[in-house]
Amino acid sequence: MTARPKFSFAVISDTHYLNKAYHKSQLERGITDDLTRYDWVSRNVLKAFMAEISSFAPRFVLLTGDFIEGGCDSEAATVSEMREAMALLSGPEVPLFLIKGNHDPDAAYRKTVWPYLSEKLGNRITANYYSFSCDNCHFIIIDCGDFETGKQYLWLKDQLRRYSGEKYVFVFGHSPVFPVARPFFCELEFHRRMVKLLQEYRVDAYFCGHTHNHGLSLHKLNARNRVLQLKIASTGFPDQHLNLEEWRTLLDYPGFPYDFLWGFLEDSAPGYLLAEVFEEKIRISHYVFGKTLCGAIEHKRNADDRIFPRKPFPAVAGGCGAVVPGNIEAAYLHLCVYNSTGKNKAVILNGTHIGNIPPGDSYSARKKITLPVSCFAGIKLENTLEISNPEQELFTTGSLVLELVLKDKRRMLSTVAPDIYTTANRWDSWQLNVLKHFRPGETIGPVYLKFGSGTITP
Ligand SMILES: [Fe+2]
Repeated sequence: MTARPKFSFAVISDTHYLNKAYHKSQLERGITDDLTRYDWVSRNVLKAFMAEISSFAPRFVLLTGDFIEGGCDSEAATVSEMREAMALLSGPEVPLFLIKGNHDPDAAYRKTVWPYLSEKLGNRITANYYSFSCDNCHFIIIDCGDFETGKQYLWLKDQLRRYSGEKYVFVFGHSPVFPVARPFFCELEFHRRMVKLLQEYRVDAYFCGHTHNHGLSLHKLNARNRVLQLKIASTGFPDQHLNLEEWRTLLDYPGFPYDFLWGFLEDSAPGYLLAEVFEEKIRISHYVFGKTLCGAIEHKRNADDRIFPRKPFPAVAGGCGAVVPGNIEAAYLHLCVYNSTGKNKAVILNGTHIGNIPPGDSYSARKKITLPVSCFAGIKLENTLEISNPEQELFTTGSLVLELVLKDKRRMLSTVAPDIYTTANRWDSWQLNVLKHFRPGETIGPVYLKFGSGTITP
């Protein structure tokens, strides 16, 4: 007979709840893309998503930041947005333990979240960081936006010293400690300080969000300590499942090897983690909306984690390696950019100009160049790409992927570019092995994008 867990808890992140009535100023200024997307998810998905989580009867839910979109017209509007979000995301039986994200403004957070947490925890909360214990587990909530002052760091160190020997310890923060697939969404100083603590004290898992992709990874810190980083995103489109490694360059840190377990790209189906706590082990299952189990990790202290791999979602239909009998209907170059102002940076594919690098500043999803039909004839199984930079801009690009939509509606993805290309020194201190430097003005490339074996008939 299978033992029943002592209790379970769920983890969600980045719900970005919004009510457009509180965002008139942003809408008037033309900030509509994010608002439209989050508004749709808020109205059509979040209620059913939370009902699905409740059906597992977790004792509580933790939300690792950005529970609202923020950027509202006034503080009163932010307070209203937060109250609506909390009513939607928490239930009378299932408390919601919030972690502060960068979209959760401080003053409104104190007015709405602190009293709620104080009531649920039975003691007065006076900071964005706090902790509580439940059976054989200790839960430590940190505020990644306030890590420099040292006060919180000393508190965290004391928490770890007191609990990491005797209980399962879980730490929850908004930012990843290890930015696995969306670089630069984490401050280096935060990363360094956290790594130092994680090397000294055993933490069973670090839960986070912020990058809006799902990413489960196991990081080796030294001969003694390893930590699971479990990054989840709970906004996105329910019918979309995009494998992270097909769309993103995975980062490579000298000195800190890690096993990437699995993950999904931004805007994939909203996800949640369900942790079941037994006497001798923890089982953490990763689901996406629709109760689709993606995989699970069984974790025990002083034993290797048992990984039950993700049930693979199909690669993009007819994906890399498929034979393509049809014609190309549309073709796109997907890419991420940082600090690109949209100056005249031409992208040359197999010797033909396909468009310019778009503007962008957050290495986010949804940046792409639509290839002109006249370029289709030049697309091959093995493609070479170069980027000119005549105005000597200091910028960064990466995660370049070619996507073909065939006339029979199948899609093909190329391999993702293995490196991140930069003309700036902004990220040098991270010492990422995948960061490749070019002089301002120098042509970037060659970047090779391959479709594997098969036939493409343009
Ligand atoms: Fe977010």
